Amino acid sequence: MTSPTATASATRSIVILDFGSQYTQLIARRIREQNVFSAVLPCTAGLDEIRAQNPIGIVLSGGPCSVYDSDAPPADPAVLGLGLPVLGICYGLQFITHHLGGKVRSAAKREYGHAEVELVDGANPLFESLPASLHVWMSHGDEALELPAGFHLTAKTSNAVAGIANPEKRIWAVQFHPEVHHTKQGTELLRNFLFNICGAQPDWTPEHFIQSTVAAIRAKVGDGQAICALSGGVDSSVAAVLVHKAIGDRLTCVFVNNGVLRKNEFQKVQQNLRDKLGLKLVAADASRRFLSRLAGITDPEAKRKIIGKEFIAVFDDEAVKIRQETGGVDFLVQGTLYPDVIESSSVKGPSQTIKSHHNVGGLPEDMELKLIEPLRDLFKDEVRRIGRDLGMPDDILQRQPFPGPGLAVRILGEVTAERVALLQEADDIVVTEIKNAGLYQQIWQSFAVLLPVKSVGVMGDQRTYAYTCAVRAVHSEDGMTADWVPLPYGVLKTISSRIVNEVRGINRVVYDITSKPPGTIEWE
Ligand code: XMP
Repeated sequence: MTSPTATASATRSIVILDFGSQYTQLIARRIREQNVFSAVLPCTAGLDEIRAQNPIGIVLSGGPCSVYDSDAPPADPAVLGLGLPVLGICYGLQFITHHLGGKVRSAAKREYGHAEVELVDGANPLFESLPASLHVWMSHGDEALELPAGFHLTAKTSNAVAGIANPEKRIWAVQFHPEVHHTKQGTELLRNFLFNICGAQPDWTPEHFIQSTVAAIRAKVGDGQAICALSGGVDSSVAAVLVHKAIGDRLTCVFVNNGVLRKNEFQKVQQNLRDKLGLKLVAADASRRFLSRLAGITDPEAKRKIIGKEFIAVFDDEAVKIRQETGGVDFLVQGTLYPDVIESSSVKGPSQTIKSHHNVGGLPEDMELKLIEPLRDLFKDEVRRIGRDLGMPDDILQRQPFPGPGLAVRILGEVTAERVALLQEADDIVVTEIKNAGLYQQIWQSFAVLLPVKSVGVMGDQRTYAYTCAVRAVHSEDGMTADWVPLPYGVLKTISSRIVNEVRGINRVVYDITSKPPGTIEWE
């Protein structure tokens, strides 16, 4: 399978070399917020790979290593001699210092957190319009001791180097993190690098992205046919709408009811995507097939495997039918996002994130379809912006993430039709009340979990013996870490009393106050 990128190669970009900082993706997003395209490459990228991005400037990210570590990322110092403007950030400053003949040393004390920096070079274009003293965010163990020849100090803290420059070589560097919002004038500093120093144009806009992506898809697909597995979530929906804009009904979307969707989800997705957005959509109700395979299975991994395998089987069956109807299918549309691309291309060490789960459980390898991944240059918030510009409803764009194996990861123990129905009702109450409280969009995920635990209760004069439901609500940036949300008592009270009163079969509600780590978001 090949995976084209529709946009990056034609667009002028800022290349960010990733030395493994937790903030690397943030640098990319901050640059793109200025409507300038940025691409993250592993710090080991070769010069040809860098040039292929059509760069007008290079940013060297921070990183967890010391330049003297035996496993310091092996980047090519020749990137400093390409003649392109370079901005080193944190480790980037130390990399520049070390490789151009200066000296770096271990700081007596690790500097982590807020700091005050004095700018000592008023003529520096990187600091144009900034005040003489900046409130910044620091996170480093090493510091520059001696500057390389040709460099001068541009900023300092009370006891250390905070900025250096060699305008002749077009190299600038700062010890602090302008991409982190705690650095008050960080955005202005990055803007200065982009517009004063690199001469960037703010032309990376949603309109530009949509136009160039649609044109690239049209050119690639020609008069061929494409299929897409829709999950109803943001990514696959926006990807499908973009491809539909390019090739119309030569795209067929498949939406599978796997029996563990949320309440009314099967109908709602069809209404949204077929009726409102005009996609050609095949809706396959395979819920019975899934539930019969899941009967008697309690192991969480086994449940996941069954759902993944069954999904492929159902999708395959539908694809065969679509092939027969259309005379052949050549392309498969996927909603892959940029963070996945960065993760799979990063060398060991940098960007140490854990691969998250696949959205729709993986798709057949043997279909020999060529991939169309229209979102592979985008971050999630950019996908939402594109979706808005494509006229997609907020209902789709602002949805909280929902796992591919659906409610099966939220029903502990065996998944049965009865339990799915109970959880659908409880989950619907949680989502409705969180929305009523105006909290839905501020929360990463909020949902109910059905526990295979029955306890005694009393309702009216009746003794009950019924299931327990756990409510979970978490704040998170990317699902990798999460904090439980201190939901207002009033909201918890309404959720609890509605579930117990309205969902016959649940008589007890508990609230999960575990963060991730050590907990996970889903219970499984
Ligand atoms: P955990 O439970 O590992 O979840 O803390 C982290 C994030 O991943 C989501 N998740 C999935 N998403 N397919 C998905 O598309 C899956 O199989 C899957 N499993 C977990 C989870 O909802 C949370 O946002």
